[in-house]
Amino acid sequence: MENTVSEENTKYQLLQLENKVCVITGAASLRSIGYGTAELFAVHGAKLVILDLVMNDQIASQLTSHIETQIGKKTEIICIQCDIRNASDCDHAIEKSVAYFGTIDCLVNCAGIVKSEGMLSINEQDYDLIMDVNLKGTFNICKSILKVFAEKQAGVIVNLASLAGQRGGGLVGGSHYAASKGGVISLTRSIAREFAPMNIRANVICPAMIETSMLDGLTDEQLDNVVAGIPLRRVGKTSELAGACLFLASDLSGFVTGATLDVNGGIHIH
Ligand SMILES: NC(=O)c1ccc[n+]([C@@H]2O[C@H](COP(=O)([O-])OP(=O)(O)OC[C@H]3O[C@@H](n4cnc5c(N)ncnc54)[C@H](O)[C@@H]3O)[C@@H](O)[C@H]2O)c1
Repeated sequence: MENTVSEENTKYQLLQLENKVCVITGAASLRSIGYGTAELFAVHGAKLVILDLVMNDQIASQLTSHIETQIGKKTEIICIQCDIRNASDCDHAIEKSVAYFGTIDCLVNCAGIVKSEGMLSINEQDYDLIMDVNLKGTFNICKSILKVFAEKQAGVIVNLASLAGQRGGGLVGGSHYAASKGGVISLTRSIAREFAPMNIRANVICPAMIETSMLDGLTDEQLDNVVAGIPLRRVGKTSELAGACLFLASDLSGFVTGATLDVNGGIHIH
C-alpha cells in the first residue's frame, strides 16, 4: 500500500539539513545572500564550507562567530579562499572540503558581481569580467562539485541567477550581467537534465531587489520608484532568499529539478 501523506511527513526532520555538508560560495559579507543562506543552513544542522574570493582568516573568524552567536550553537564550518573564475582553484577548494568533511551533499552558488552600464559603454574587459565570474565561475564550481556528486550518485545544486536573466538588464545590471545570468539559467537546466539519472538535482533561483550591497548603487529616488513597482511594495530580505535555498537544497524539494524559482516580490509574474 502507498504511504499516506502523514506517514511521508514523519520522515521529514525538523532540521532539514542535519549533518549535510553544504558548500556556499559568495558569503564573505554579513549582508550577502550567501551569508543569510549559511546562517539558515546552520540552524538546520548543516556543516558548512564557505568559499569566497575575499576570504581570509579575519573574515573566516568573523563569519563563524557571527553564525554561532546568531543561532546560539556551535557550527562545523570551514572557510576557503577561492576565485571561482579559476577552475583549478575550484578543484582545490572542493578537494579540501572533501578531505575535511569526507563528502559534499549540496552546493549553493551565490558568488557573483554586478555592473550597471549601457550597452555602448561596456568595454571588452568589463564584459569578460562579468562573464568570467557569473557564468564561467558557475560552470567551474558546478563542474568541480559534480565530479564528487557523480561518484556518489547524489547531490543538489542551487545556482543564483537573476530577474535580469529572464527579463533583460537595465536597472541593476547591464546587458552583460543579464546575459551572464541568462547563461546561468541555461547551464543549470542542462546540468539538471544530464545528471538527473545520477540522482543529482539542480535548480536556479532568480532573485530581484534583495537588500544587499548590490542595491547600494541605487539612489533613494531610484529605490522608491522600484519599490513602487513591486507588488509586495518592499525589497526582499536575505533571510527570505535563504528560505528558497533551503527548500531547494533539502528533501522538501526532492522531486524538483531543472526549475527556476522566482524570489522577487511579484515584480515578474509570468
Ligand atoms: N541582491 C539582489 O537583489 C540580487 C538580485 C539578483 C541576483 N542576485 C544574485 O545573487 C547572488 C548574491 O548576491 P548578493 O546580493 O548577496 O551579492 P554580494 O555582493 O553581497 O555577494 C557576492 C559575493 O561574491 C563574492 N565573489 C565575487 N567574485 C567572486 C569570485 N570570482 N570568486 C568567488 N567569490 C566571488 C564576493 O566577494 C561577495 O562576497 C549574485 O549571484 C547576484 O548576482 C542578487
